[in-house]
Amino acid sequence: PLDFLLEAARRAPIVPVLIVEQSEVAADLARALVDGGLTIAEVTLRTPSGFAVIEAMKAAAPELIVGAGTVLTGSDVENSISAGADFLVSPGMSPRLLDALGERRKIMIPGIATATEAMCRYEEGFGLLKLFPASVVGGVGALKGFASPLPHMRFMPTGGVTEADAGNYLALPNVFAVGGSWIASSADIAAADWRGISTKATRALARA
Ligand code: 3PG
Repeated sequence: PLDFLLEAARRAPIVPVLIVEQSEVAADLARALVDGGLTIAEVTLRTPSGFAVIEAMKAAAPELIVGAGTVLTGSDVENSISAGADFLVSPGMSPRLLDALGERRKIMIPGIATATEAMCRYEEGFGLLKLFPASVVGGVGALKGFASPLPHMRFMPTGGVTEADAGNYLALPNVFAVGGSWIASSADIAAADWRGISTKATRALARA
């Protein structure tokens, strides 16, 4: 079900994690990311405007795959889908969230930090997982360690990933994308630095 995401990640395997205060900038931001060569973005639900941002980004750049991040509750799931989110991301999983997801777990990338969590999510039907917070829970070494005993699982490390180490993650066969806020930081967005965001995206893709 997330094949469209894997296909987009093969073209551009870097997912900007966005914290956007004002939905008014969403269209410019979406176009800046596409101009920079990106195919996927994750809008966190850490601001009240998150759902409006998802909707506005999809309207401005229909070719951009836009996910909702920081999905914690059943209402986050409902509102994200209503806003047009193509996929969902969470920092972890809870029994209530799992229950609320139902069939929509097919478009969810849940966060995990250990082999046990990865095994639990896999049993529950999640195929793609987010290693979170990647730099703290073992980073490249942890993913190398997971590869042999957990060969069916594919990861999107996020949390503390930098432009300098994105390529090290992406060189691993069990990593399909990396996520991070450095491409379009809150400061970049507040400053409306669309050209700077495009440049960082292009540079990161070239290095990766
Ligand atoms: C987050 O939680 O904000 C994301 O995982 C991104 O983390 P980063 O700011 O360390 O890139």
